[in-house]
Amino acid sequence: MRRHKKERLMNPNLEKLQPYPFAKLAKLKAGLVPADQPHIALSIGEPKHPAPDFVRETLVAHLDQLSAYPATKGLDDLRGAIGDWLRARFGLEHVCPDTQVLPVNGTREALFAFAQAVASPGSRVLMPNPFYQIYEGAALLAGASPFFLNCTAQTGFRPDFGAVPAGVWRDCDLLYLCTPGNPTGALLDEDALRQLIDLADRHDFIIASDECYSELYFDEDAPPPGLLQACRAMGRNDFSRCVVFHSLSKRSNLPGLRSGFVAGDAQVLEKFLLYRTYHGCAMPLPHQHASIAAWRDETHVKENRALYREKFAAVLETLDGCLDVSAPEAGFYLWPRVGDGEGFARELFRQQNITVLPGSFLARESGGSNPGREYVRMALVATLEECIEAARRIRAFCG
Ligand SMILES: Cc1ncc(COP(=O)(O)O)c(C=O)c1O
Repeated sequence: MRRHKKERLMNPNLEKLQPYPFAKLAKLKAGLVPADQPHIALSIGEPKHPAPDFVRETLVAHLDQLSAYPATKGLDDLRGAIGDWLRARFGLEHVCPDTQVLPVNGTREALFAFAQAVASPGSRVLMPNPFYQIYEGAALLAGASPFFLNCTAQTGFRPDFGAVPAGVWRDCDLLYLCTPGNPTGALLDEDALRQLIDLADRHDFIIASDECYSELYFDEDAPPPGLLQACRAMGRNDFSRCVVFHSLSKRSNLPGLRSGFVAGDAQVLEKFLLYRTYHGCAMPLPHQHASIAAWRDETHVKENRALYREKFAAVLETLDGCLDVSAPEAGFYLWPRVGDGEGFARELFRQQNITVLPGSFLARESGGSNPGREYVRMALVATLEECIEAARRIRAFCG
């Protein structure tokens, strides 16, 4: 049959995009009648703790600046605040805010745009599996093909870089990392990060380390390490081949501000800035001022961690002995093994009016299996009371 001309003119790579996990979830729930009790959503990873008042006030105080075009590179003060934060958080005393830092409108757009700037058509883009869905879409729309690194209980939910075939390394332009991981919460330690940097040198690829959950951890004395910190430990102050992605969304409960940054290799960021100038993704000036205030304060971040700590303790205590689940190393997700993730999600919704996300929707079939199939993802973003109520109902469901 002859295709409509408009259809033929569309980018054919669009055909390769999968429906987003929440579209799959809506289909799974379609037609089901849930139990008659208030709905609790543990499915969406959207922070629900209140945004800090001082950030809201700073945003409002700068609304007059909406009448100016912002520069893509961002204000010196914003890059300066981010540089100070990187120094304090990761010990990066040599970081240069002028060449090694760029503001972005949330890590989602930056993770997507990065592949467009870095990956050449026909190359391989490596990513964990399960994974944040943007990595795959970014690779496909860049004309590259994704290669999935299964993260299973056997691998400690970390990618097994030793299992990557030589031909895949040869064609690899870009590798996405997610540490702390969504959905598993697993971390790569500094040794693993250093080994990965050695691989990047050997096979000539760029590492994009998505660290947007790095500030949600449990032990105040043991924050998760980051890729640039591993660079510093290697004496690699130019951060060659390494770029990290950070966000205010989870750290500061500001998902609606759309504010984050990328930092790392100045040569890569110079080209990325050129790409972004054409793409047109400068951050509005009031958002930049609000972001400066947020990056310069740690008190609200500590309070935020305390809220999550309390929720994880209460929920895990209630679920103890009824679900195969343990505390993540960081982040705000639980990743319990439930057997049939889709069946579990469907029945939990029907019997208890709780929505969780089947792990299979966050992963792809690779090496003969879908590493998310036996899992569901639960985001502990609701209030303490709602999370406890959800845990109580899940216990009743499992019992
Ligand atoms: C792993 C991961 N990376 C990036 C993002 C995007 O966050 P934002 O664009 O709000 O910075 C998310 C959001 O849920 C995420 O889970």
